Amino acid sequence: MKTIQLGSTQNRVSAVALGIMRMVRLNTTEAANVLNVVHEHGVNMIDAADIYGNGESEKTFGTALKQSGLKRDDFFIQSKGGIVLDPEKSSGELVFGQRYDFSKQHLIATVDGILQRLQVDYLDSFLLHRPDPLMETDEVAAAFDDLQSSGKVRHFGVSNFNPMQVELVQQAINQKLIINQLQFGIMHTGPIDFGLHTNMQDDRSINRDGEVIEYSRLHQMTIQAWSPYQYGMFAGTFIDNPKFQGLNDELQALADKYGVTKNAIATAWILRHPAQMQVILGSMNPQHLTESIAGADVTLTKQEWYDVYFAAGNDLP
Ligand SMILES: NC(=O)c1ccc[n+]([C@@H]2O[C@H](COP(=O)([O-])OP(=O)(O)OC[C@H]3O[C@@H](n4cnc5c(N)ncnc54)[C@H](OP(=O)(O)O)[C@@H]3O)[C@@H](O)[C@H]2O)c1
Repeated sequence: MKTIQLGSTQNRVSAVALGIMRMVRLNTTEAANVLNVVHEHGVNMIDAADIYGNGESEKTFGTALKQSGLKRDDFFIQSKGGIVLDPEKSSGELVFGQRYDFSKQHLIATVDGILQRLQVDYLDSFLLHRPDPLMETDEVAAAFDDLQSSGKVRHFGVSNFNPMQVELVQQAINQKLIINQLQFGIMHTGPIDFGLHTNMQDDRSINRDGEVIEYSRLHQMTIQAWSPYQYGMFAGTFIDNPKFQGLNDELQALADKYGVTKNAIATAWILRHPAQMQVILGSMNPQHLTESIAGADVTLTKQEWYDVYFAAGNDLP
């Protein structure tokens, strides 16, 4: 398994991580099997969030980890917080927020709940899940200091933040933000499109993300690519989807060349970027996971990387 350096830390983690957003679907025996399968293939990082399955995904993980025979330290365990769920709208895998809350009190209570559900003493990393327009950065700073000095959290990061939002938090806190988790994959390439269309008049020249890839590289923040096989906002996967026939043909041709499957090429496409991103897989199917993880050992040529980008409906200016 290819490894990457996590942000500016000395930690090396697997280039592919397991996200447990969809673990609410599984019973603990099935979840323990998923953990054993990914661990056997070299995955040593888990991405959770307090809201996944309204806490049930974390609970299932906590029990499954014990059942699996694996140890706490076999994984770098990360979770996220800062979203307050709307209990009336949320059920199972479908969750809806009613507000964001980065107050000291909420963030500390959130981590306490996470540790209890995961049945662990500390998180390796904790991320602010989505930027809160009402964030008071001194509250975030006080929460992070408390969480770090109490030994509950080792590293901090953000998710879905643009560079100025990162700067706003970073200037207030005592810890270095090491991660920004963003939606990124073959069918979700806004920051790449903008970079290619700078100073042009077309839609792709619109700066929606604030040069987030370049910023992350300059500041040694690891980009974690969430929903790597999805298009739109949870619209579904493009793998085997007839709406994306040209892309699937290109992925299949490369899969045949490298002796892997299409999802492996979709993983390899993200990892080919020199930003040293980490891919967060969300499947709960051991076969899909095994196939996808194999992509970490494939290095596409530059032309292959561009050919996949073109097959997704893009071109060069
Ligand atoms: N920070 C954020 O705001 C944010 C938002 C969303 C997600 N995330 C993180 O990102 C992780 C991954 O998200 P995701 O689950 O949307 O990612 P994904 O890996 O792109 O999608 C997984 C989904 O695609 C399905 N799928 C269908 N065919 C597949 C194939 N051939 N190979 C692999 N999967 C296939 C899977 O079903 P099967 O289970 O049947 O394989 C599963 O439902 C989450 O668990 C979470 O940790 C973060």
